[in-house]
Amino acid sequence: MSSRQITIIANWKANLPPSEEVALAKEIAESLLGALPKSGLPSDVRVLLAPSTLGLVPVASLLRREYPHSALEVAAQDVSLSIPGAFTGEAPAEHFVGIAPAVIVGHSERRRDHGETAEVVGGKLARAVAAGLAPVLCLGDDLPRAEIASRVAYVEEQSVATFAAAERAGCSAARLLAAGLVIAYEPVWAIGTGNPASVEIAEGIAAGLRSALNREELPVLYGGSVDAASAAAWFGTSTARTSLDGLLVGGASLSADRFATIVRAALSAAGSAQ
Ligand code: PGA
Repeated sequence: MSSRQITIIANWKANLPPSEEVALAKEIAESLLGALPKSGLPSDVRVLLAPSTLGLVPVASLLRREYPHSALEVAAQDVSLSIPGAFTGEAPAEHFVGIAPAVIVGHSERRRDHGETAEVVGGKLARAVAAGLAPVLCLGDDLPRAEIASRVAYVEEQSVATFAAAERAGCSAARLLAAGLVIAYEPVWAIGTGNPASVEIAEGIAAGLRSALNREELPVLYGGSVDAASAAAWFGTSTARTSLDGLLVGGASLSADRFATIVRAALSAAGSAQ
């Protein structure tokens, strides 16, 4: 059995108001209860729910109050570049401390809709790490029909530009890695299209990034049209795991049944299913 941890993140984006996010978190927790050992999620599987900013506190409180043994956690979907202070409307990293241990940074929807450049994403990584949050950095190509080598080159270039920007903002690659950096490979053409990448492509990207960073154990997740029916393929089996470390799930995480099926597939691949 592999000891590598599997991480599953539910990215609810801006789909639901906080009250419905709380209801969904409850449904997911209830639906997982039967699959979990009495002590909750085993240490080799980590599950984070990423509600909207307004839903973070109520969802975190629900999990703490009603499902303290489930080990379900919350993650933020984004963080501001600003420090705490007179910055109307911003959400500085420090404000997430004690609520969300991790934050998604550089999602392609932020890059597309808010013009977030590598400079901004690198700055946000630095801010997250300075506050003690573990960043989940989204990288991905927009090359639907390219060879794997071109995708790897594209994503490596994106990572180099982002790490250089983080370094300029005061956070070295070594510090990012020590802070628990996780990379999510999210090809833009696969997000919300029903057309996921192949395991082979995602493993190729993971291998390229690990060798570029000289970090064999760099955790790399895959995200983009993951669904319950195909979830198991991303993990492999407990005796023959893929080289991927988990999934970032959008649309399918809005259904408690589909998301719980994905988590159960992770538990089974980790050899922890009950
Ligand atoms: P999707 O979204 O699963 O709906 O494709 C994934 C993501 O954007 O993180």
